[in-house]
Amino acid sequence: MRFETIAIHAGERPDAAFGAVSVPIYQTSTFVFEDVGKTRGYDYSRTANPTRKVLEDTIAQLEGGKAGFAFATGMAAEATVIHLLKAGDHVISADDVYGGTYRLFQNVMRDFGLDFTFLRMDDRERIEEAIRPSTRMLWLETPSNPLLNITDIEMVVDIANRHDLMTVMDNTFATPYFLRPIEYGIDLVVHSTTKYLNGHCDVVGGAVVTTTDDLSGRVQFLLNAMGTCASPFDCWLVLRGIETLTVRMKQHEKNAIAVADYLKGHPAVKGVFYPGLDSHPGHEIAKRQMKGFGGVVSFELKEGIEAVNSFLKRINVFSLAESLGGVASLAEHPATMSHASMPKDYREKVGITEGLIRLSVGLENINDLIDDLCQALEPS
Ligand SMILES: Cc1ncc(COP(=O)(O)O)c(C=O)c1O
Repeated sequence: MRFETIAIHAGERPDAAFGAVSVPIYQTSTFVFEDVGKTRGYDYSRTANPTRKVLEDTIAQLEGGKAGFAFATGMAAEATVIHLLKAGDHVISADDVYGGTYRLFQNVMRDFGLDFTFLRMDDRERIEEAIRPSTRMLWLETPSNPLLNITDIEMVVDIANRHDLMTVMDNTFATPYFLRPIEYGIDLVVHSTTKYLNGHCDVVGGAVVTTTDDLSGRVQFLLNAMGTCASPFDCWLVLRGIETLTVRMKQHEKNAIAVADYLKGHPAVKGVFYPGLDSHPGHEIAKRQMKGFGGVVSFELKEGIEAVNSFLKRINVFSLAESLGGVASLAEHPATMSHASMPKDYREKVGITEGLIRLSVGLENINDLIDDLCQALEPS
């Protein structure tokens, strides 16, 4: 089956019990045994649940992986994956990852004996120099949040293979519609399904896709042991969202390109960060490794924080809110919102300035979006 068909038919669909076309929500904590020691495939919903299983199979197939796992949030997925490591292990992570990922690594996992090096993943030598005997994992996010930096996945995988390191990639921004990291040799894909996979801002969720039986067994063990799994109803909402992923992503991208083109010519704008622009430093790599550039556009205002505040107060069609990937357009200020957990000097070093705004370009009429940006950017 091809991508669009997988998104609608993967997993046990229609349902084996009664042929329901819409995946049933198995809202149950526990399952009756057929006999002592004999289940009908499920015993307890933390371990596995039929609604969750359809979502897990669907995401695994969309990513071209071995198995999928659905989590309560993107952070629950990441926390589970990082527990594949043990005290003393070292991780090299992209420096401009989502703020919550940085916080999990820096403020939580360090206390459990893991060590992290954060760096820009655009230079082979820089990455290789950071590798130590204790390095176990390379963690990347491309396009990154919020700067839309692009990492050459094949280059990172090549380094990982030479040094026998596990690779993890956060594919939240691109989704498997635009980018399939496993085809480039990535070992584990993580998602915040809260974003494009669900697509409607009505759930928080996460996912992991594995590439080997060994990794699948270890992730399933941790999911069950840590209890980080998603609820049946949340899985159903994500499944419903994924059915329209293809058409949504095409339109998100179309609108994002128009927004990026508009912003790059605006006198109040210092710079636009969108990998679809020729001027973006990662444009050629993005063109090679992605099928499209996605729906998030960040931009920096010349006049800094005062201009940011005025813009965010004036927007009407865009809403001032955290998150991204839904049908409704959102705008946020990374320095005080999504990336506030990064210390100021670190944030500025990686390029997340006070003048930076991140837009999640939704599916409204593009003229309404441009009109809204236009009036919000007018000098006050
Ligand atoms: C790229 C990326 N990864 C992970 C997360 C965390 O996901 P969640 O908010 O579902 O826990 C986010 C949230 O914004 C994100 O943008």
